[in-house]
Amino acid sequence: MSRWHTASAPGKFVILGEHSVVYGKPALVLAADRRITCSVRRSRHNTLNGEPIEFGKQPHFRYLTRNLRHAADFVTRSDIPAGAGLGSSAALSAALALALSSMAGDDPDERYLVDEAYNAELAAQGSGSPMDASACVHGGGIGVNLPGNEDRKLWCISRGGRSWCVTDMDVPDMTFVVGNTGIKAPTAPQVDKVRRFTRRSNFAAEMIEEIGNVTLCGYEAIRKNDVEALGRMMLTDHKLLSILGVSCKELNKLVNAAMPHSYGAKLTGSGGGGCMIALTDEPDKVAAAIESRGGTAYIMKAGEQGARLESEEPVSPLLDLSSYV
Ligand code: PMV
Repeated sequence: MSRWHTASAPGKFVILGEHSVVYGKPALVLAADRRITCSVRRSRHNTLNGEPIEFGKQPHFRYLTRNLRHAADFVTRSDIPAGAGLGSSAALSAALALALSSMAGDDPDERYLVDEAYNAELAAQGSGSPMDASACVHGGGIGVNLPGNEDRKLWCISRGGRSWCVTDMDVPDMTFVVGNTGIKAPTAPQVDKVRRFTRRSNFAAEMIEEIGNVTLCGYEAIRKNDVEALGRMMLTDHKLLSILGVSCKELNKLVNAAMPHSYGAKLTGSGGGGCMIALTDEPDKVAAAIESRGGTAYIMKAGEQGARLESEEPVSPLLDLSSYV
């Protein structure tokens, strides 16, 4: 039997800037303390978690294995909820790209992994920014298109007339609580919805511009360690995203539940369901308030390590891969 090659990557949450980042506006993102682990080995048949793999239903696998000249077994495990705005599909792509590189005997740099993960995301969901792929590969904290931060540049990526310059960002010493509505909401329909809105309405385009401004104010607040100002920006951002049509009543309910004990709260990721985050000094109270309104809460440890190789033993399969797009 061939030996296993195992890699993992973290999920992410967006402090400010989702959706507007697709149009080249700034964003602030932290890696989350939840990971996807992926093992791969040479084999006689292609399998995923012990079953024959249907590449047609697994676009990330199809893209990332495009150069593979032999069959392989894949085993995948995740503690990142899928379709919940926590970057599960980018984390899967980053971990799989690294595991496949290891099997090929390569030692890839982060830039290679970001390109692979971003292209896998595009193959699966059609459009979007390299924000998730960058956060899941690099880990820690990243900024996108932040002026005056060029000395911390990681990479610049251009696609379809847009450019994203990704920089390393210090992880703020702040406490965030995540609340999951439990509603699965894939990314692509939300991104398409915003695109259609911006095409037919100047007002929507102005909202995108305004989210960019709010994100820059939020970045200033992080640099000054000003939790109150950052919280205000987060709530403003949530309102702007709601106007864009990507919030929902369940997200609003959890944001409202968190606010009495928080500096600010907002949806995170593509919205339409999935998760919200709250910035707080009272995480237990916020978690209890979220749970009392039907959400699932956990206190987030931010700044997790990026994509990395793990011990060679395969992880046990635990994962529903049906909604990674
Ligand atoms: O919901 P997620 O974790 O896939 O995050 C999507 C973030 C967007 O800004 C809405 C899209 C993108 O590609 O940047």
